[in-house]
Amino acid sequence: MHVFVLTGAGISAESGIDTFREPNGSGLWSRFDPMKLATPEAFQQRPAEVQAFYNWRRQRLIETRPNPAHLALARFGQELHEVGGRLTLVTQNIDDLHERAGSSDVLHMHGELLKARCLVCQGVSECRGEISPHSRCVACGQIGALRPHVVWFGETPLFLDLIAEWLPTADLFVAIGTSGAVYPAAGFVAEAHRHGVKTCEINLDPADNASLFDQSIYGLASHCVPAWCERTLASLKAPPSG
Ligand code: OAD
Repeated sequence: MHVFVLTGAGISAESGIDTFREPNGSGLWSRFDPMKLATPEAFQQRPAEVQAFYNWRRQRLIETRPNPAHLALARFGQELHEVGGRLTLVTQNIDDLHERAGSSDVLHMHGELLKARCLVCQGVSECRGEISPHSRCVACGQIGALRPHVVWFGETPLFLDLIAEWLPTADLFVAIGTSGAVYPAAGFVAEAHRHGVKTCEINLDPADNASLFDQSIYGLASHCVPAWCERTLASLKAPPSG
C-alpha cells in the first residue's frame, strides 16, 4: 500500500507553531500581511523587515517540539515499510518537526526555515541563527546575499515533479491540518481523484476543499492522527477474511 500524506500548519499547531488562517482571526496572516512579508517583491523593497519576520519564526521554531501527530506519522512510515508499504510525506510546513519526530525523506514543498539560500551561488546551507546583512554564504563566501530557503507567494513550490509522479501511484491520499486555501497543494485531492486514489481529510475544521474528500475526520491532530495510523496499520496487518 502506498500512502501519500500532505501536511499543513494544523499538524504543528499543538507544538506551538502558528497556523495561517483561523476562523477566530488568530492566524499569522490575520496579524501580518503576507504581501508585505512573504513575496519576492517585499524582500526586494524591505529586506530587513522580511528577514526579521523569518528570524523571529526561526527562533520560535527552535523552542518547539514535535507533538504526538508528528511522532505517530514517523512510526507509521516505519511500520508501513516493514509490511511492504510505502509512505510519501509531503509538507507545506517550513518547520523541521517531522524530521525531529523521526520521519525521513520529507518533501518540503514550501522550503525549510532552518536553511538559507545564497542569491549569488544558489547554495543552500543550514541556518539556525539570524540572517543579517553581515551573514556570509558558506559555499561562495559572499556577504549579505542570504535569504530564507522558503517559497514565497509568486514563487514555484519545490518537488512538484516528484509529487506529480508519485501522487497518481498512491492507494490513499491523506491531507492533515491544511485549510485547502493555497495552490497547488489544495489541488492534490482533485488530482488524486482523477487517478482513482482514495482520499481522506484529517483536520480541526472542514477545509475549503472538504467536499472533495471521500472521508473526513475532524478533531485535534494529536488525537486523530495517531488513532488513524493505528487503524490503518491494523487493517493492513489483519488476516484476509473468508
Ligand atoms: P492554514 O493556516 O491555512 O490552515 C491550517 C488548518 O489546520 C486549518 O484548516 C485548521 O482548521 C487546522 N488546524 C488548526 N489546528 C489544528 C489542530 N490542532 N489539529 C488539526 N488541524 C488543525 O495552513 P496551511 O493550509 O498549511 O504558505 O497553509 C498553506 C500555506 O499558506 C502555508 O504553507 C503558507 C501559507 O500562506 C506560504 O507561506 C507560502
